[in-house]
Amino acid sequence: MLTQAPKGTKDILPEDIYQWNYVEKEFSELCQRFGYKEIRIPVFEHTELFQRGVGDTTDIVQKEMYTFQDKGGRSITLRPEGTAGVVRSFIEHGMSSLPQPIKLFYKITAYRYENVQKGRYREFNQFGVELLGAADPSADAEVISILAMFFEKLGIQNLELNINSIGCPKCRSKYNEKLKEYISQFLGDMCDTCKDRYNRNPMRILDCKEEKCKTLMKDAPALLDNICDECRTHFDSVLEKLDAINIPYNIDKGIVRGLDYYTKTVFEFVSKNIGTQGTVCGGGRYDGLVEECGGAPTPGIGFAMGVERLLLEMQSQSIEIPKPNPPDIYIGAIGHKASLACEKLAWELRRQNITCIKDIMGRSVKAQLKYADKIGARYVLILGDDEIESNKAKLKDMQTGETKDITLDTLINRLLKIKG
Ligand code: HAM
Repeated sequence: MLTQAPKGTKDILPEDIYQWNYVEKEFSELCQRFGYKEIRIPVFEHTELFQRGVGDTTDIVQKEMYTFQDKGGRSITLRPEGTAGVVRSFIEHGMSSLPQPIKLFYKITAYRYENVQKGRYREFNQFGVELLGAADPSADAEVISILAMFFEKLGIQNLELNINSIGCPKCRSKYNEKLKEYISQFLGDMCDTCKDRYNRNPMRILDCKEEKCKTLMKDAPALLDNICDECRTHFDSVLEKLDAINIPYNIDKGIVRGLDYYTKTVFEFVSKNIGTQGTVCGGGRYDGLVEECGGAPTPGIGFAMGVERLLLEMQSQSIEIPKPNPPDIYIGAIGHKASLACEKLAWELRRQNITCIKDIMGRSVKAQLKYADKIGARYVLILGDDEIESNKAKLKDMQTGETKDITLDTLINRLLKIKG
């Protein structure tokens, strides 16, 4: 136990971190290109925020939250997603009085007590975007286009964009009656959670993961066939805008999403390469959420992407992520005087932006050279008393095996020139 991470969590090890740094940097850069600013929100929030925001009849709230009482007796929950926290922050910091819209992006860990499998973890990472204050269909298209451009930028191909509209509360109340009528024929055969949802939130039944419920719901009426004129016009306009920027999509009437806050547009980018957990990202419009959480009515739309799934997809498409450069130079020292000179030289080199590794193990010269080779240092320089006195040393190019006599004073300039 002590030496094993809890189920569903994992370490991101130093040899893999470059992949994370790379996608994080690409994501941040792209979001900023679209005018989005980064926000950092707390890992935990008051439980009520998620009950209200995500919805207390969703699987996330009913089955998957990490909830506990803190020492002050408050009910606290580790965030299962980022949207509710961002919306809470939007309200708390009076962002509605800033020039609208508010365009935010985030990179977070999230926590859900789920059955662990490939692509599904209990602690996972999301990149997300939330656009608040824009009701126009262009906002929907913009948010989706960030994703399409991100995948293009990373070289990811063939992710399918599935899109749907789940209407507004107006069209949904009529639809719920239709749905209940359909479900009433076999309600007795459904799981207990669905029975409970029947009266509280029948649409949630469409999202049940139990096989028997899924089969029973196969021919349920689709919400897209029952949305009001305003929602239809909005949806058609979103599709028209996606057409204008050549983003292909499939209209998928089956998308309901597992969170309650959605209205109108919902979408997912899905991969066929990474197994059953193929939804790399999902999102949609949530025009009632800010109000639900206690703010003034404000439209919103956003998405979140699972970073583990993104990386799995990149691996499955054999996309090479640039590896970090090995150290520019390893400086070894023989003897006390040389080791002091080595301290000074390493300090100066690092100051000049040169990656320099030096002996801090008191190793023999032979062992130092072996180590320099193992860590892939580009150049190696060994300093002894003679080198200090003569101000000259041998610089070994580890790629070519060539050794050159150099004056120590010129080392920094020489390395800077080589680095370009
Ligand atoms: P979500 O569909 O629950 O939406 O999660 C978004 C993405 O997070 C999923 O598509 C998946 O890639 C990843 N994900 C979810 N759960 C797990 C898990 N257990 N393990 C690994 N990856 C996972 C949301 O979270 C919404 N907040 C998205 C949103 C933002 N909608 C509007 N704005």
